[in-house]
Amino acid sequence: MAVTIDHSGKAALVTGAGAGIGREIARWFARAGASVAVNDIRDDNATAVVREIEAAGGIAAALVADCRDEAQVEALVAATVERFGSLDIAVNNVGMLPAGRSVSAFVDMDGAYWRDVLDQNLMAAVSCARSEARTMVARGGGGVILFVSSGETTRPSPYNAAYAAAKAAINHLVTTLAVELGPSGIRVNAMAPGTTLTETVRTAFTDEHVAAIVASTPLRRAVEHDELARLAVFLSSELARCITGQLILADAGAFLSRTRPANLSPDEGSELR
Ligand SMILES: NC(=O)c1ccc[n+]([C@@H]2O[C@H](COP(=O)([O-])OP(=O)(O)OC[C@H]3O[C@@H](n4cnc5c(N)ncnc54)[C@H](O)[C@@H]3O)[C@@H](O)[C@H]2O)c1
Repeated sequence: MAVTIDHSGKAALVTGAGAGIGREIARWFARAGASVAVNDIRDDNATAVVREIEAAGGIAAALVADCRDEAQVEALVAATVERFGSLDIAVNNVGMLPAGRSVSAFVDMDGAYWRDVLDQNLMAAVSCARSEARTMVARGGGGVILFVSSGETTRPSPYNAAYAAAKAAINHLVTTLAVELGPSGIRVNAMAPGTTLTETVRTAFTDEHVAAIVASTPLRRAVEHDELARLAVFLSSELARCITGQLILADAGAFLSRTRPANLSPDEGSELR
């Protein structure tokens, strides 16, 4: 008997789903049969993703909201329930550096920089989760909340302190919420992508930088968008029904490469033994 994942009859909300990883997650939930609320701050992108899903026979609605704004998040979650009759799965995917901000030396990150990056990567997810959890509990419990963290929390790089700290807070939030919401039948997990070549990353990184990252992963490659989408679909499914409070790394093994310097011969490594 084949093992399949079927999200038919479920309503899934994916934030920041107009591009990149979120777009692929939305497409895969639709492929798995869910009705998908495609959130983005950009109407054009959200609408384009909905058109793609509908052209492939799926069900989706574009819901524009800035997830940094609590009132807009409340309205977003309410609109999902109004449109599809429930909220079963929520993927809090909004993140990356906000418009106008780039990586920076820690000593040059002022309070405004920290607040901007924390708003985008921590507070947006906190607002979404609060609204989603309240809605799931009010509707009798049950559901899945999935956060998108980052491999940056397991293998930090310089010049990204605020982003990494925000994502690390998500990692801990997952454990607290799993304990607090578990009795209501709500599972809470996070996935931590390694470098995934979305448009945003392609624009921000040079080819040399991407090549260096790829060379440092055991699998010698970046992560594909659909690999994260498949993981999201799995973690939200009955197949993962006992998994909660976990951070799942999907990083082509990147976090392992800090354990031992590359090309260290047994002789060179003798002082480490
Ligand atoms: N791409 C990577 O290598 C990588 C690695 C680790 C973690 N991540 C995480 O994965 C998630 C997605 O990353 P991505 O590379 O696909 O990003 P992306 O920039 O390609 O896409 C993000 C989408 O979110 C939308 N968006 C931005 N701010 C928003 C807001 N405040 N409210 C609603 N929508 C908003 C954008 O319009 C865009 O469509 C982020 O949380 C990011 O931190 C990405």
